[in-house]
Amino acid sequence: MKRASFLLLISLLVPHGLAQSYEERWRPQYHFTPAKNFMNDPNGLVYYKGEYHMFYQHNPQGNRWGHMSWGHAVSTDMLHWKHLPLAIPEQPGYMIYSGSAVIDWNNTSGLCNEGQGDRSCMIAIFTAATGDTWQRQHIAYSNDRGRTWTEYEGNPVADLKLPNFRDPKVFWYEPQKKWVMVAVVAEDRKVVVLDSKDLKKFVVRSEFSVPNEPKRQWECPDLFELPVEGSNERKWVMIVNINPGAPAGGTGTKYYVGDFDGERFKASAGIDNTLWADFGKDFYATQTFAEMPEGDTRRVWLGWISNWQYANDEPTAPWKGMQSIPRGLKLRQYADGVRLVQSPIRELASLESQIVTASGNLSTINSELRSTTLSRSARVTATLRPGTAAQIGLSLLKSAGENTVVGVNTRKKTIYVDRTGSGQDGFSKHFAGTHAAPLENATEIKLDIFIDQTSLEIFVNDGERVLTERVFPLQQGDFKLELFATGGKAGNQSVRIARMKSVWE
Ligand code: FRU
Repeated sequence: MKRASFLLLISLLVPHGLAQSYEERWRPQYHFTPAKNFMNDPNGLVYYKGEYHMFYQHNPQGNRWGHMSWGHAVSTDMLHWKHLPLAIPEQPGYMIYSGSAVIDWNNTSGLCNEGQGDRSCMIAIFTAATGDTWQRQHIAYSNDRGRTWTEYEGNPVADLKLPNFRDPKVFWYEPQKKWVMVAVVAEDRKVVVLDSKDLKKFVVRSEFSVPNEPKRQWECPDLFELPVEGSNERKWVMIVNINPGAPAGGTGTKYYVGDFDGERFKASAGIDNTLWADFGKDFYATQTFAEMPEGDTRRVWLGWISNWQYANDEPTAPWKGMQSIPRGLKLRQYADGVRLVQSPIRELASLESQIVTASGNLSTINSELRSTTLSRSARVTATLRPGTAAQIGLSLLKSAGENTVVGVNTRKKTIYVDRTGSGQDGFSKHFAGTHAAPLENATEIKLDIFIDQTSLEIFVNDGERVLTERVFPLQQGDFKLELFATGGKAGNQSVRIARMKSVWE
């Protein structure tokens, strides 16, 4: 068959909206983005029968928020995603807001078609929302690995008769053989904990809130248990996404470390109000995978790389919104308490190619890097030794009049991203800016930076701090990288740069 007619045949066979080029300006090459139209929160992250599922908040009709429905994609490695048709569309009278998915292994719901040696099916738990008039929790079930969904006829499964009760995250609590749901009452700034034996009726058991919480919304909670690195201790982590009031302004992700007895989460004494998962401006509406492959004990999450201050105004088309790389979560003991740390999943190493390394003092490295052009989809790992310098850092995505700076201020003990010269930023007054995170150790700083055309995810000192930022460089093509130090004499540095292969080829 001739190529032209073959392509015509393919385009007739591929469901509408799934044909894609992934070569548009600002199109991420190894991050998940929908082929077209608006996307916000990741939803229903779960592994089942050889596939990771990603559902997501999606407007199938346009490139701004609206008509919320669940889009759907599957992957075998959390990196290469295959788009599937819309999973759960908006219904007459209500939209499908954020929520989670579980595997009902033992058919507690009675909604699974029991087959030979397999009683399981997928259940999605989401908010049915008429905007802000009422919001209730519904379930839908799928007996064909998420391809088709049927709403349970007894919905809702949880209803507090409130206009802002949403974002259910459900997990199986083995000690009491029951399902636990956390969901927010957004405007009351609280997480409600509910439970159920069969997913069909949830009962409220407790509420979690904190004193002196400013007036804002709580959204997209999550609750899970993790071991504390290097000890036998286990702790529970309560995630709360908040809108607005994050360190960089607008939306962001907070967490609390504590204990959970199946009914009530109690934050550890001394845990104050200021634990943030990410200090960049663009990391929100996180969710952890509900199931992982057998024997894989990782707790992996991802978030939406955006901020509600400008999510609708980002200058990309025909799609809007991107998800972060998947990140593994751990708890680490610090002098002032147990903290959440994040690391890029190991699968990302499989995308690396064309590795360039450079080490030595700044001028040696910079003269080597001057002759090296880098892909805008890249992983930059570096160890910075500021010596006596007041500031040290990297100038990234540098080309004709543009750059994005990742720097360390050794006097203030902060790491920052300056995107004021990064490219297009006039679409929102909230976009341009410099965003900083406190650093525990500013004498030797380990960076692992994921750049993908239009995003930076910066992991600092083995995930102790993370900053996620979106940028819209006007320059296309390869870029230059340069190191800088000011206000003193820097020591020896080392840098490793890998091109990251596209997952959409
Ligand atoms: C968070 C959020 C959720 C809600 C969804 C609607 O970004 O506001 O609280 O369920 O988006 O799309």
